[in-house]
Amino acid sequence: MKDIRAILKSMTLEDKIALCSGANFWETKAYEKYGIPSLFMCDGPHGLRKQENAADMLGVNESRPATCFPAEVTTASSWDTDLIGRIGAAIGEEAKDQDVGLVLGPGANLKRNPLCGRNFEYFSEDPILAGKLAASFIRGMEGQGVGSSLKHFAANSQEHCRFNSDSVMDERTLRELYLPAFEIAVKEGKPATVMCAYPKLNGVHCSDNQALLTDILRDEWGFEGLVVTDWGAMNDRIKGFRAGCDLNMPGGSAYMEKDALKAVQDGSLAEEDIDRCAERVLRLVFHAAETRKPASSCDYEAHHALAKQAALSGAVLLKNQDDILPLREGDSIAIIGYMAQSLRYQGAGSSHINPTHLSQPLDFLPGVSYAPGCDERGDTTDALIAEAVTAAKAAKTAVVFAGLPGRYESEGFDRESMALPEGHNRMIQAVSAANPNTVVVLLCGAPVECPWADQVKGILYMGLPGQAGGEAIADLLYGRTNPSGKLAETWPLRYEDCVSASSYGKTKDALYLEGIYVGYRYYDKAGKDVRWPFGYGLSYTKFRYTDLRMDGNTVSATVMNTGNRTGSEIVQLYMEAPQNGLHRPVRELKGFQKVSLAPGEKKSVRFTLSDRDFSVWQDGWKVPVGDYTICVGSSSRDLPLRQSVHRDGAALPVPQWQHGSFYETCMGTPTQALLESAMGRSYAPEVLKKGFFTMDNSVEEMKDYSFIMKIMYKAVEKTIAKGFGGKADYDNPEFRMMMASSAGSSLRSMQTSGGLRDGIMQGMLDMANGHFFHGIVRIIKG
Ligand code: BGC
Repeated sequence: MKDIRAILKSMTLEDKIALCSGANFWETKAYEKYGIPSLFMCDGPHGLRKQENAADMLGVNESRPATCFPAEVTTASSWDTDLIGRIGAAIGEEAKDQDVGLVLGPGANLKRNPLCGRNFEYFSEDPILAGKLAASFIRGMEGQGVGSSLKHFAANSQEHCRFNSDSVMDERTLRELYLPAFEIAVKEGKPATVMCAYPKLNGVHCSDNQALLTDILRDEWGFEGLVVTDWGAMNDRIKGFRAGCDLNMPGGSAYMEKDALKAVQDGSLAEEDIDRCAERVLRLVFHAAETRKPASSCDYEAHHALAKQAALSGAVLLKNQDDILPLREGDSIAIIGYMAQSLRYQGAGSSHINPTHLSQPLDFLPGVSYAPGCDERGDTTDALIAEAVTAAKAAKTAVVFAGLPGRYESEGFDRESMALPEGHNRMIQAVSAANPNTVVVLLCGAPVECPWADQVKGILYMGLPGQAGGEAIADLLYGRTNPSGKLAETWPLRYEDCVSASSYGKTKDALYLEGIYVGYRYYDKAGKDVRWPFGYGLSYTKFRYTDLRMDGNTVSATVMNTGNRTGSEIVQLYMEAPQNGLHRPVRELKGFQKVSLAPGEKKSVRFTLSDRDFSVWQDGWKVPVGDYTICVGSSSRDLPLRQSVHRDGAALPVPQWQHGSFYETCMGTPTQALLESAMGRSYAPEVLKKGFFTMDNSVEEMKDYSFIMKIMYKAVEKTIAKGFGGKADYDNPEFRMMMASSAGSSLRSMQTSGGLRDGIMQGMLDMANGHFFHGIVRIIKG
């Protein structure tokens, strides 16, 4: 590696500051005079999105063709760390082939609520599962000499107001739920970079957050790489330098660089803080330049095959009454649903890929009859339903393709409900009434309500299966591959059952009232029925669990394939903690392994437990003394093997407010007062008021208080509408996303993402605050 310290020493202060923000949307700055090369980066988590012409952070403009692997929602359901590592490596190969040094993925945020518009890009509601899968992806990619970016650090579990909301939670919740996936991925994956998230965390922007970016990430977890902002997430460049927020992206705006320079000159910011960040930028770009190996083999056909394998492994068989699946060759089959001819295979937003191929299910299902049943928007008509019913009646089995059309789920906004489009529900209901042998293939990036689940015999959940999804579905339906995926998140019966349903997305700030009781941690403690539990998934064969043994920290169990087909089983280990002290979930996942078994074959699976597996966070990790139960089985609610074990440890104090509270019982609804007790502080939302607006406010927020912002909002709307035939089309996810990412983003984000000079947005802000002429002068001065 070059002598980075020497290069740093030779640089002027101005250049060091400037090096710490990008040259443009996707590149760092090159300096010939210092011999510093630039680094090209691009999204994303399940395939490359290299834009060579018009750049945007929304995936709207065309990118170079690349393999579109299944989204994380699907790869997560494979629970297959090896497979996900191979996907990371394949994306790394394509990155090398396309001259990309850093890929912006994977996403490791926790799925807190099923409506988060970006859940399809995240792995799980469980931090251990999310962390292990993210770590594998990172290892695969970094093994190719290509950097990864673990995102969005931290606690960015909603799209609503993502640019300027505050994630408000107690320390224990942060430590036990929202940080561990990142911690595992950092420690075990060693990503080149971590991307800091847009929202604030307990009142402090992630980009300014020294506790997060330095104390925890670097000092506690040993992260040695670089922190890059999410695109437009830099709040205060001076605080960012102090906090260890190294690289401000996208570049082009010189955002607050003059302020940082002044701060060093007047002694309020130490030059060492800038040096530390600049040095990390240098290390990243030189490492990328030096490890960049020529793309000796980038076989896009082989990657398509890998994408298919991932779609096969991530498919979850949710229901298979009377062994309706697999379909028998030669039987008459009616395929219903527009998605069979036009697959929903990826999500919208910055992860959007221009695929090298796209296989449509119908092309791989020869000899079937077909009726679309609905249109591409998910709407239907009496005529479409009548045609579908006729086709269904004439066949032995009807297979309905249903899910969420693109406009329902996207980066940039959250879903409005957990319902499928009305047209899809109608289609399933009509077809299943016409033919008792109905199977549903579901295509969506997050759980949906399935009011018809009892009326159909089979349900195969594909998530968003990527470019090879069509052929994978055909193989699964006909049993050429045995499904083996398991849900990485709980599917509630209805949205209202979700613990955060009454508060999620209702306010600008995200109040994590439910604390650690997210997903199965909540449903299990509340004793609530769910549609399908965490870890659940069927197979065309059967497995039997026996011989649970514990020897010190080692647990082993035997799993046997008792059916007559080869299949894979995901063996899961949960720990049940004592319930007589500090409140704890009923059970938590502590390990998992996927094993493939021929009929009659059995294998022993081993797990090693650590102290951390028994621990809770109470001013540090501590093991509470007591009797624990180790459980092994096939899902969070099917754990045939159990053994109790006594652990020595601490008798931890139970806070007074816990007694009889939601956290102790999971009964009723958690309140702000309870959260405040757990945080040890009170919370008050920001009050919007003319005269008090800051760069953190959005045009959308201010438009009801300020005439100038109202005009600006209309201007933004009109400009964006131009790209949509002049229509402000709020039904179109791209339009909504663009509005949310411009008028809905903070002024500072608008400035950095738009590459605008410092004075423009400041001037607009002055005007919004009632200082019209002052604002005009600021804008003119720039
Ligand atoms: C997204 C990131 C993405 C970046 C660049 C942001 O809006 O949140 O995930 O990597 O844009 O496209």
